[in-house]
Amino acid sequence: MNKSISGFSKLSKRKKLQWIVENFFKDPENVMRELMSHWHQNEEQQRVLDGFSENTISNYVLPFGVAPNFVINDKTYVLPMVIEESSVVAAASSAAKFWMNRGGFKAKVIATKKVGQVHFSWSGNVEKLNSVFEELDAQLRTDVSHITANMENRGGGILDISLLDMTHLEGDYLQLKVNFETCDSMGANFINSVLEEFGRSLKNFVATHEIFEKKEKELTIIMAILSNYTPECLVRAWVECPVKDLGKHGELDASSFAEKFCKAIRIAHIDPHRATTHNKGIFNGIDAVVLATANDFRAVESCGHTYAARDGQYRSLSYCSVENGIFKFWLDLPIALGTVGGLTKLHPVARRSLELLGNPSASQLMEIIAVAGLAQNFAAIKSLVTTGIQKGHMKMHLLNILNHLGANEKEVPETVNYFKDKVVSFSAVRDFLDLMRGDKKKDLNLLTDQKASS
Ligand code: MEV
Repeated sequence: MNKSISGFSKLSKRKKLQWIVENFFKDPENVMRELMSHWHQNEEQQRVLDGFSENTISNYVLPFGVAPNFVINDKTYVLPMVIEESSVVAAASSAAKFWMNRGGFKAKVIATKKVGQVHFSWSGNVEKLNSVFEELDAQLRTDVSHITANMENRGGGILDISLLDMTHLEGDYLQLKVNFETCDSMGANFINSVLEEFGRSLKNFVATHEIFEKKEKELTIIMAILSNYTPECLVRAWVECPVKDLGKHGELDASSFAEKFCKAIRIAHIDPHRATTHNKGIFNGIDAVVLATANDFRAVESCGHTYAARDGQYRSLSYCSVENGIFKFWLDLPIALGTVGGLTKLHPVARRSLELLGNPSASQLMEIIAVAGLAQNFAAIKSLVTTGIQKGHMKMHLLNILNHLGANEKEVPETVNYFKDKVVSFSAVRDFLDLMRGDKKKDLNLLTDQKASS
């Protein structure tokens, strides 16, 4: 397959789709109809969605679920969750219910600093640049005042600017590192606009200041861009209760459960393989709410993973302790979010997600999302150290298989009941359905015997 086209972006949406189906699908008419069936019925809403990206030919639909009973800082929330993985919403809901009767979740924003960098090349005398840095700092701020005025009115803006000498790592490489407060917006556009202006201003400063000799007047901006690593845009979420209140979990009494649970967390601090899966579970919860509120999940993921490796080894983002009979479980998460700007209010469903959460500020959303991550982690570890996760997963998996095999309203409960105490696999479910559909119920006993002996 080697099909290329020029001017694709200029075609109408229908023509784009037509070209795609005619060139890449065996049954173009049906595929065209199918992909068009996902177009929004409301043309205005479809125009909004198409405006988010380029070359759109259809919409990619994901389930929008909710997890009720989240008590966070004594207020009860229903969390909106957009996720394609079964069990995630169910796990969040069950963790929410578990902690609802044990004091609920607590969360606190520790800091909200965002970061930007201007990377530049300069072969001048760094000490000299440092000696006039105060002057440079003032000039930079003056030159961006037309961009920062609005943000300053909202209580944000540039916090501090520092000059970093990186020449020991890369020849002639220096950096302006800038901290920002962007209030309720994630601030990417604001930060990048300021940084690009800083680049021009810095170049001009060096070219025109009398302290620099002729050979020092040339400075090259390599790039000016925000950093998605925001370790000082940090939130902590936690739960705690007396160990005895954790209750019995299968064979485990409360204290053995707490011990085993904490050991599982310690293992995720020791072993990067486990840490990666452990944090993936945390991000199951985080990403689902980040997506539901139209925040940037790539930024959130990359920041979280860098933070998890901040001491040189990739480790768990969550911690656990048992001290003086108190079980405590917490998560520290750097996360840059917005509740204004970006798509947050433009995306028709994200807008409703935010409304469902009571239109939180960015700081409140940081707390809610950290709790979603902690709840997800709690549910996963609780299952892992007790029943294992397959029990819950397979129940959901069975429903997916039944859906795939087109099981009807009568077949679903019968199959679920049949597999209550059996191992679920695609072929086993298909065999069972085949038998039911062929009205060969008598053979079911035979099937049961075969499975039991295999
Ligand atoms: C599956 O999506 C997530 C888990 O693997 C997380 C974990 O192992 O902690 C269950």
